[in-house]
Amino acid sequence: MSSNDTLKVAIIGGDGTGPEVAAEGVKVLDAVAKLEGIKYELTDFDLGGERYLKTGEIMPDKELEELSKFNSILLGAVGHPDVAPGILEKGLLLALRFKFDQYINLRPVKLFPGVETPLAGKGPDDIDFVVVRENTEDMYCGVGGFLQKGTPNEVATQTAIYTKKGCERCIRWAFELTRKRNKKKQLTLVAKTNVLTYGHDLWWRTFQEVAGEYPDITADYNHVDACCMWMVKNPEYYDVIVTTNMFGDIITDLAGILQGGMGVAAGGNINPEPGGTSMFEPMGGSAPKYTGKGVINPIAMISASAMLLDQAGYSNAAERVMKAIQIVTGSKMKSQSAGKMGYSTSEVGDLVCESL
Ligand code: IPM
Ligand code: MN
Repeated sequence: MSSNDTLKVAIIGGDGTGPEVAAEGVKVLDAVAKLEGIKYELTDFDLGGERYLKTGEIMPDKELEELSKFNSILLGAVGHPDVAPGILEKGLLLALRFKFDQYINLRPVKLFPGVETPLAGKGPDDIDFVVVRENTEDMYCGVGGFLQKGTPNEVATQTAIYTKKGCERCIRWAFELTRKRNKKKQLTLVAKTNVLTYGHDLWWRTFQEVAGEYPDITADYNHVDACCMWMVKNPEYYDVIVTTNMFGDIITDLAGILQGGMGVAAGGNINPEPGGTSMFEPMGGSAPKYTGKGVINPIAMISASAMLLDQAGYSNAAERVMKAIQIVTGSKMKSQSAGKMGYSTSEVGDLVCESL
């Protein structure tokens, strides 16, 4: 990206602690943009539970159309205690992932210096891998239904959809990332081919085919249950994991806790195509009980901002933010848990800015 371009970022603070952490992400973006001479513009979008409760609108066409003009969205959190589960998640978060065809959900798992992991005897050298989660298919498509709902004979189906195109583009992107990362040069497919003998057979065959184009990368395979075991026992085994949407959702919560918890774990919903709209978010939810108290950890959000910069082509700025985060976790913060950081949400943002 040339220095004449303006980086346009859409901000969706969303629910609960979302706006508080988003403000820190923006603070750091602002500071690094000044240091790196990046021209950028921010546009705020009022979306989330409060608006839904007031107006009944979740993701109006007008906003969707507006958002489609951005390459980068920063999302705080989705989930409101007064809105039934599923409504905002499906209507906002999943709607954006699907609408903008963000087929990669990239979740780096890195234990920063000074951050506590629940794994005994493991440190930052042991916990450093990346999960590439397919983000548009599987049981997330909402294909299914009820028969005889509410009766003793009720039947419910929820169908996992896998397409050749969908798994191939995700697998190929993961091979490319493994090559670019240039660490162990090992890509592990995580699936369940011994039970899901149709859908995951498609993934397996496609993985083997694409692996043929990457002779420099070791194409490895784990069943998902074994992966959970290895991730706890030997996290250092992993370099890059590629997996289906639902398994990726589950294993990245496990991975998130290994890297210090939801205050630290960030992810990107990426549409890698030219002009695609990508969206970056902390993995934690809206944490209603901490809302407005200034105690929530913004590190995940700040990491998400770094991922945004990287995806937008500003890799120096991204690296600068990642280094600053590690100075702050390694030498300032007491803990990564909400309320125990030794600093307020906004002070942690300030510390990262000072460390840039
Ligand atoms: C995540 C979340 C979402 C998901 C929910 C909120 C729909 O758990 O981003 O991992 O399942 O993808
Ligand atoms: Mn999840």
